[in-house]
Parts: sequence; structure tokens; C-alpha cells
Amino acid sequence: MNVVILTGAGISAESGVPVFRGSDGLWEGHRVEDVATPEGFRRDPEKVHQFYNQRRARLLDGEVRPNDAHQAIARLAEAWKGGLTVVTQNIDDLHERAGLDAVIHMHGELLKSRCTACGAVAACRGELSRASICGSCGGIDCLRPHVVWFGEMPFHLEEISMALHAADLFVSIGTSGRVYPAAGFVEMAASSGARTLEMNLDPSASSPVFDESRRGRAGELVPAWVDELLARAENTG
Ligand code: OAD
Repeated sequence: MNVVILTGAGISAESGVPVFRGSDGLWEGHRVEDVATPEGFRRDPEKVHQFYNQRRARLLDGEVRPNDAHQAIARLAEAWKGGLTVVTQNIDDLHERAGLDAVIHMHGELLKSRCTACGAVAACRGELSRASICGSCGGIDCLRPHVVWFGEMPFHLEEISMALHAADLFVSIGTSGRVYPAAGFVEMAASSGARTLEMNLDPSASSPVFDESRRGRAGELVPAWVDELLARAENTG
């Protein structure tokens, strides 16, 4: 049986990483157009660097740790005998820190930089600025966070599409279902015959499309679902 899991900001909320859509529509006090678009970066690169530098520092400050939901998915990956693809919209590294090796980061990774001159992607745990120098080509003022901004193409879409077409079960965890193409994955999986399950604190924009919706905290719902899935697999041999 092939399982595809899509995770969003809600899975990291209990780890202390804030979700995106606050009730004020702002992104940690900023307009999305200012800090998460190529135009915003062109207009004010230092402001955008500062925004991601702060988020990177917070991710690494020791308070942020994987929670029971990340751990449960890593446990599933170890025990599962069928196919399993984990796709995340999150740019944090909490799935990896929980011990999951293969995670598809469709919106990029906060702990990486990318050179706009030579394309090199490199680990980045410190601060980026216009003065940063690319370790590959030696260029200056050419590094950006290796994240996908609005108006840019998400990564690994072909691989994800293949997994969705082969899926028997599609599970979405902690995502508001407002940002495409991820918001359309449930329909792609369903049209290929997969059963679809959503886990979210509140109803999401895509809830009506799912076969089943479970309401609650990811830290509670995901471990229970993993136990259930593994027990069922064991019973069916
Ligand atoms: P959002 O902030 O839009 O939505 C977070 C979802 O998590 C909401 O539906 C909440 O109800 C739910 N939630 C919050 N706490 C939860 C908890 N403890 N347990 C379970 N669910 C919980 O985040 P995403 O849907 O991930 O894109 O946002 C998608 C994309 O929009 C992001 O990857 C980012 C953003 O703008 C880019 O940066 C390109």
C-alpha cells in the first residue's frame, strides 16, 4: 500500500514554530508581498534577509524541537513495509530532526542558501546579507534563502505528482489548504483512487474534499493514526 503524507505549518505549531496565517492576515507582522515574493526581495533585500535570519535563528535556538507528530511519522517510516512519501510545505528541519531521512521540501529549506549567480545550494545556519559570499563561485550579493516565494515554482513537483498518482492513501496534516499547488494534491490523489484523510485543528479550505477529517492537535492525532495504520497492516499480514 502506498501512502503519501503532506504536512503544513500546523504540524510544527506545537514545536513553537508559528503558523503563517494569523487572524490579522500578516506574516509575523509583515505583509507577505514584502517578505515572501521575488519583488519584495528585489525592493528590499536586507529586510527579507533579516526576516529569514530571525526565523533561522529561532529554529536553531534550542527551544524548537520535533514534537510527537514528527516522531510518529519517523516511526511509521521505519516500520512501514509499503511505499511512503512525505512531502512538506514547511521550511523547518523538524521531520529530519525526528529521524525521517527522506522528506520532500516542496517550499525549500530555511537552513540552506542558494546562489542566484551560479545556482549552488549550500547549508546555511548563520545569517545571510548582501555582503555574504557564495562558497562556490565567490560572488558577492548573490545569496538568497533557499525557499520558494509566492510567484515561484515549488520544487520536486514531478516526483510528487508520480507519488500522488500511485497513492492508495493520502494524508494531509496541519495545512490550511489555501496555497496551490499543494492545496490541489487531495484532488489529484482522489482522482487516482486514493482514500483521503485530513488532520487539522480546525476545518480547512479543503476539508469538504476529504473522505475523512479528524479535528485536533497534530501531536495527539498523528501518533494515534500511526498506531492504527501499523496495527491494521499487521492484522492484514
Ligand atoms: P497555514 O498557516 O496556512 O495553516 C496552518 C494550518 O495548521 C491551519 O489550517 C491550522 O488550523 C492548522 N493547525 C494549527 N495548529 C495546529 C495543530 N497543533 N495541529 C494541527 N493543525 C494545526 O500553513 P500552511 O497550510 O502550511 O508557503 O501554509 C501553506 C504555505 O503558505 C506555506 O508553506 C507558505 C505559506 O505562505 C510559502 O512560503 C511558499
